[in-house]
Amino acid sequence: MLIIASDHGGLELKEAVKTYLKKRQVDVRDLGTNGSESVDYPDFGEKVARAVSLGEADAGILICGTGIGMSIVANKFPGVRAALAHDEFTARMAKEHNNANVLVLGGRVEAADQGIEMVAAWLDSEFEGGRHQRRLDKIAELERAIGAGKI
Ligand code: RB5
Repeated sequence: MLIIASDHGGLELKEAVKTYLKKRQVDVRDLGTNGSESVDYPDFGEKVARAVSLGEADAGILICGTGIGMSIVANKFPGVRAALAHDEFTARMAKEHNNANVLVLGGRVEAADQGIEMVAAWLDSEFEGGRHQRRLDKIAELERAIGAGKI
C-alpha cells in the first residue's frame, strides 16, 4: 500500500498524482490535506513518514510547495529514505541507487504532467543493490549510532 499526503502548496499536484495512481490501480491512501487552507507541512509529513518507518505502508509520496520541508521532516524518521527529486531522471535514480521509500515533489515546482512522470519513473524502476546496498547500510549504521547517542 502506498500513502500520499501534502500541505496546501502540494494539494493540486497530490490530486493529480492520486488520479494517476488510481488509474494504474495502485492501492493508495490519502492522508490529507484536503482543503486549500494553509496547514503546516510537518503535520502531514509526519503521518506518511511514521507509517513508512513503522512498516504500515510500503512507500509514500509527500508534496509541499518546494518539497524541501517535507524532505526535512520525512528524513527524521528511522528507515525512511525520502528523496526530493526534480525530474524523471532523479526520480528513477532515487529508486535505482537510493531505494527511496518516500518520493517528495514540489507542487509549486513541477507541473502535474511532470510530477506524474516522476512518480511513474520511481514506481517503475528497481533498486540495483550491490554497491548501492553497501551505501544504504552505512546510512542505516549512522542512523543507529545517532539513535544510540554515539554521535
Ligand atoms: C508553504 O507556504 C510552504 O512553505 C511549504 O509548502 C513548503 O514549500 C515548505 O518547504
